Amino acid sequence: MKQFYVTTAIDYANGKPHLGHAYEKVLADVISRFQRMEGRTVHFLTGLDEHGQKVQQTADKEGVEALAYCDQMASKFQDLIKDLNISNDDYIRTTEPRHKKVVQQILQDLYDKGEIYKAEYTGFYSARAEQFLQEKDQVDGKWPEIYGEVVEITESNYFFKLSQYQDWLKDYIENNPEFIQPNVAANPVKRFLEDPINDLCISRPKERLSWGIELPFDTDFVTYVWFDALINYISAVGYGTDDFKKNWPADVHVIGKDIVIPAHGIYWPIMLHACGIELPKHLLVHGWWLMSGAKMSKSIGNIIDPLSLVEQFGLDPFRYYLIRESNGFGDSNFAYESFVMRYNNELGNDLGNLVSRLLNMGARYCEGKVPAASVTEDPEKELQSLWNETAEAVLPLYQSYQFHTALDKLFVFIRGINRYAELRQPWKLAKSEDPKDRAILETALMLMAESLRLSSLLISPVMPQVAERIHELLGISLPETWQGQLEWGSSLEGKTLGEKTILFPRLEDSLA
Ligand code: ME8
Ligand code: MG
Repeated sequence: MKQFYVTTAIDYANGKPHLGHAYEKVLADVISRFQRMEGRTVHFLTGLDEHGQKVQQTADKEGVEALAYCDQMASKFQDLIKDLNISNDDYIRTTEPRHKKVVQQILQDLYDKGEIYKAEYTGFYSARAEQFLQEKDQVDGKWPEIYGEVVEITESNYFFKLSQYQDWLKDYIENNPEFIQPNVAANPVKRFLEDPINDLCISRPKERLSWGIELPFDTDFVTYVWFDALINYISAVGYGTDDFKKNWPADVHVIGKDIVIPAHGIYWPIMLHACGIELPKHLLVHGWWLMSGAKMSKSIGNIIDPLSLVEQFGLDPFRYYLIRESNGFGDSNFAYESFVMRYNNELGNDLGNLVSRLLNMGARYCEGKVPAASVTEDPEKELQSLWNETAEAVLPLYQSYQFHTALDKLFVFIRGINRYAELRQPWKLAKSEDPKDRAILETALMLMAESLRLSSLLISPVMPQVAERIHELLGISLPETWQGQLEWGSSLEGKTLGEKTILFPRLEDSLA
């Protein structure tokens, strides 16, 4: 059976990992974990984009060989993945033989089919920036200082016949509105396709750049880095072997909005189509994280790198914040103040306190065991029906990548559990001798436990460690899938509750 195949963009090896990289990985991880909870087998790929001029230049600056430089960066990016508890099944580096082989295979195939031709190209070249410029790079009719001397040169290169597929792509996007998600992300692609597109220069002469994959049909050239990088999505899953169809077509490529045009929205579908390969089902496009950096560093000098929040406040709160605060396709602002607010209010007050309350009362009134529920009155019925509504709303939201809304809905339920506890007031009932009061007390604790079990299941794609911890505290273990587990009314009765615990110790507002 085909596996659910999720990818992230592969990060450029020439810069340090930052918040944007962290977010994209967490987002893809939430998708993967959600699908696994749904009972699917997932293949989750991420990796590193190692060729091209910028990597070569950075390695030169540091005085190391390009590959040695990439090795260092690969270990930095792989550390990030470990620190974020990312559940990827594979990691591709574009310098690996398995990748190079497929890039060359695709190039040869397109060349043999007549989809690639050689031509002379004349353009403005900056030796200092080592790149061709366009007239739009001029400011007031002059080349900006950073480019140094700019000369018109003519160079031979290989071109891929992108333009002949323009109409096909237009139709494809029109007829497959689910291809680019969310829908608004398709608009710029449609607009881009209104004007004629050019063929794509897919080579670089080695005398100008040697750090790349050699063209199989002309060893004086290496492959343009984007053409190389995009192919990672198929090279990593064994394109050309029987294994390929186990994963391809990809279910979702998770990417930022800056790499939709032209790479993923134009080049990639056309490359695949020209090779006769099926297109991925979805591109999931996310917006940018901005930082209120100045504010951050001014008020608390030590926090400049948001990733240091992981160390300070724990991984899952960080993952929660990224997913809850992110604005989908729009931009999101990373602010310490809002992190503290969500942490204290949603994680601390709404979720953490509930856990503490249950454990305290369980220890005091029920010998640390989950009691039996025997009462079903209006408050119990309301809580149960709130759960049913919640599960019904949250699952499709997860399915359609609307994670921040999913979390919002889930926390409505969590606040509902707190309201239920306030209503039943087991701490008051504990003073009564009336057996009816005792029955309500036990019912209330059981229902709090059951509601926490269900909430922690639904939160597990975002906060897997917290979900595991809550399950442990309820005397059970987190199941591998939630199939058959999301129904109200499990048998928690008699389970041993954990020791009194504060899951999310309160953060000082004053830090913000
Ligand atoms: O683009 N907020 O690599 P990259 C959110 N190698 N996302 C961000 C971000 C931010 N501030 N900054 C970057 C590349 N990203 C290519 C991809 S794929 C075949 C090749 C996202 O390291 C960015 O949008 O510049 C992209 O999806 C990913 O991080 C890697 O960016
Ligand atoms: Mg970038």
